[in-house]
Amino acid sequence: MIFLGIETSCDETAASIVRRTDDGHGSVLSNVVHAQIAEHTPFGGVVPEIAARAHVERLDGVVARALADAAVTLSDIDGIAVTAGPGLIGGLVVGLMHAKALALATGRPLFAVNHLEGHALTARLTDGVAFPYLLLLVSGGHSQIVAVEGVGRYRRLATTIDDALGEAFDKTAKLLGLGFPGGPAVERAAKAGDAARFRFPPPMMGDARLAFSFSGLKTALRQKAEALAPLSDQDVADLCAAFQTAVSASVADRMSRAVDLFRGQHPDIQRPALVAAGGVAANGVVRSALQTIAGDHGFHFVAPPLALCGDNGAMIAWAGLERAALGFPSCALDVAPRARWPLDDVSAPVFGAGKKGAKA
Ligand code: KG4
Ligand code: ZN
Repeated sequence: MIFLGIETSCDETAASIVRRTDDGHGSVLSNVVHAQIAEHTPFGGVVPEIAARAHVERLDGVVARALADAAVTLSDIDGIAVTAGPGLIGGLVVGLMHAKALALATGRPLFAVNHLEGHALTARLTDGVAFPYLLLLVSGGHSQIVAVEGVGRYRRLATTIDDALGEAFDKTAKLLGLGFPGGPAVERAAKAGDAARFRFPPPMMGDARLAFSFSGLKTALRQKAEALAPLSDQDVADLCAAFQTAVSASVADRMSRAVDLFRGQHPDIQRPALVAAGGVAANGVVRSALQTIAGDHGFHFVAPPLALCGDNGAMIAWAGLERAALGFPSCALDVAPRARWPLDDVSAPVFGAGKKGAKA
């Protein structure tokens, strides 16, 4: 089966063609991502209305290129998968309407995919990881530890009580004048930094609650930066290095609890996978901290290639393929986008719930 996947939930306009063979093997035939960097850079962050308009302008060209790169036409496609949430509603509407039009025109089934499920299942596309596995999902909007039991079966073990990890990277970058997008800029700056010059306490270290928190670290960094101002390039590099050190120690501490919890819940699995996903999974320091935790606890570490860490259409196509292969029904053409859509509908919301459902 060959699916087209479309992703427009934030600031990447993305489309991809992915094949899944009957034995469950996946291959990415094309993966086109237009990151809206030029559009948002003047504002230092993603502006939802500008993102939605940029998706309108770019999406048909991105889809056409994904088809051309894979050397297929719409008539070769067996199904269309599209991100229907969670995310910025304007972008979601653009992607979903585009996918509905293609589904109607081609007569192919439509699969409305949860963006977080796309991230969660990527390791099965790239590495064929078997269920169940332990997932750390760290992106601009989410920081979650999830037990992935099967397609559509997710148990959230932890989330953040304030900022997401990617958000903390982005805010740090903005504060230090490193621009947008922040995560890669902080990582780049930190390479020239001395991680021992400043020390920020790693958030939640040793805390019995399995949760993340990053806003205190952000405040500590701001206070230090204000005390040092004006900042030299070396100051910025050293602050970034100290920030990354604190973040990775915090993630390692939280994950070492999570691996024990997961082991207790699945004592029969020999060498479970610890999987990283989401944009922050591209960070080398976070990756190596996770690698160490996995090695120390008898897990094997799996992280997607960098191109599949951030938002992309391949993960959405793959989630649709996994659903189709299991016989999950496709969606009616009146399916609605969902700005909020928790991966795990069962665990209690941490930020409370509004009219549109759980906030996280
Ligand atoms: O998964 P993603 O592309 O979009 C969301 O679903 O949010 O993640 C984007 C986030 C941004 O906050 C970005 O700064 C962060 O991932 N990020 C990184 C790195 N690359 C992207 N954070 C730290 N280090 C990186 N190398
Ligand atoms: Zn994402």
